Amino acid sequence: MYKLVAFDAYGTLFDVYSMGQLAEELFPGHGQAFALMWRDRQIEYTRLVTMSDPDPNGSKYYLPFWELTIRSLRYVCKRMNLNLSSDYETRLMDQYAKLTSFNDSLNVLKHIKEKGVSTAILSNGSREMLDTVVESNGLKPYLDKVVTIEDIRLFKTAPQAYELLLKAFPVKKEEILFVSSNAWDALAAKWYGFDVFWVNRLGHPFEEIGNRPDYEGNALSRVLEII
Ligand code: LAC
Repeated sequence: MYKLVAFDAYGTLFDVYSMGQLAEELFPGHGQAFALMWRDRQIEYTRLVTMSDPDPNGSKYYLPFWELTIRSLRYVCKRMNLNLSSDYETRLMDQYAKLTSFNDSLNVLKHIKEKGVSTAILSNGSREMLDTVVESNGLKPYLDKVVTIEDIRLFKTAPQAYELLLKAFPVKKEEILFVSSNAWDALAAKWYGFDVFWVNRLGHPFEEIGNRPDYEGNALSRVLEII
């Protein structure tokens, strides 16, 4: 029934929370809190940029996701009184560039393709950072397209960001299954009109607004049950 399964990248195919381990090494006792706050601030910046100028030609405040990731890293270190040397910054960002995928990511993409269904990433990530992380995890052969919001300079959850999938593939909205581990992304994709699978690895509650996703599972591999 679905012709395209589109995945969010960070947190869904790639394990952003693994950054906590390196952070714990660099800032003992603060790794987990630091990683969570970094992620939240990074997403907060994407929203600020997009909402403050939701121009169809792109936000004038746009900065690539890579840059927002660095800026949010600097902010969080200041906020938590952690000393971010340029060596630490380089180490953290180098690891971010080469995040590892979850252990089922490759297999899930492979199985979907074997069933004759197209696969894609739809991400806030900049082109270069997405290409690097896709390549370093060997996912490239199993992805038909890596779609980034870079060209429209508006981040998810702007509807124009989700619309990119309809421009990239000759499919209808209802033929797309969108997969995200980020509840906010799952919620907005549902609002946009996609069927949604929420990967809830940590057993978190769903958001208290919007409709629940069509499907939910504690691992990416559960997606295969509905394809
Ligand atoms: C992505 C981030 C936001 O779009 O998870 O890949």
